[in-house]
Amino acid sequence: MKRTMSTGTRFAMLVCAVATATWVLGFSAAIQASRTTAQDHDHAATTTQHEEDAHLHADAAKLVNPVKSTPASIAAGKGLYEKQCVSCHGATGKGDGKSGALLTPKPSDLTDASWKHGPSDGEIYTLLKDGSKNTGMKGFASKMTAQEMWSVVNYVRTLNTSK
Ligand code: HEC
Repeated sequence: MKRTMSTGTRFAMLVCAVATATWVLGFSAAIQASRTTAQDHDHAATTTQHEEDAHLHADAAKLVNPVKSTPASIAAGKGLYEKQCVSCHGATGKGDGKSGALLTPKPSDLTDASWKHGPSDGEIYTLLKDGSKNTGMKGFASKMTAQEMWSVVNYVRTLNTSK
């Protein structure tokens, strides 16, 4: 009888140990899972290549600029601006480029605080991509990649002296 009791106790202890181990494993698996999710999320937030396409017609202001405003991005944007934008917007962004003079409406002053089409990166990007209907501002979607346009946005920000 004593022996049976002792086997029973051992069995109970074993069950208990297995239960604890299972709980601990389950718990660490859950932590692991939440870590992985967080990482995936961060990753998705910084590389929004597909997201960006999917949101082109959503609220432009909500678009997150996926290209960090690094010196390299700003330099790339500057190069593109000098080739494609200076003729209308002028070297410093005042809207005083030679070919812009005859246009109505006039090319926007990119250095001031007024943004007809919205002040956020997403709005500037969307305008750059799609252009402004019935004005000299044509869309650049066929001339630049998304990455290039975001770099131009980063450069345009450096021209703005309103802040
Ligand atoms: C042929 C002339 C022309 C060229 C080239 C041109 N733009 Fe424009 N841009 C305009 C005109 C005109 C407007 C005003 C549109 C309006 O009033 O809706 C404008 C408006 C803008 C705006 C909107 C500013 C605001 O107040 O919301 C931005 C930003 C802009 N241009 C950036 C650029 C960039 C960057 C390039 C080069 C990649 C470029 N533009 C090339 C003529 C031009």
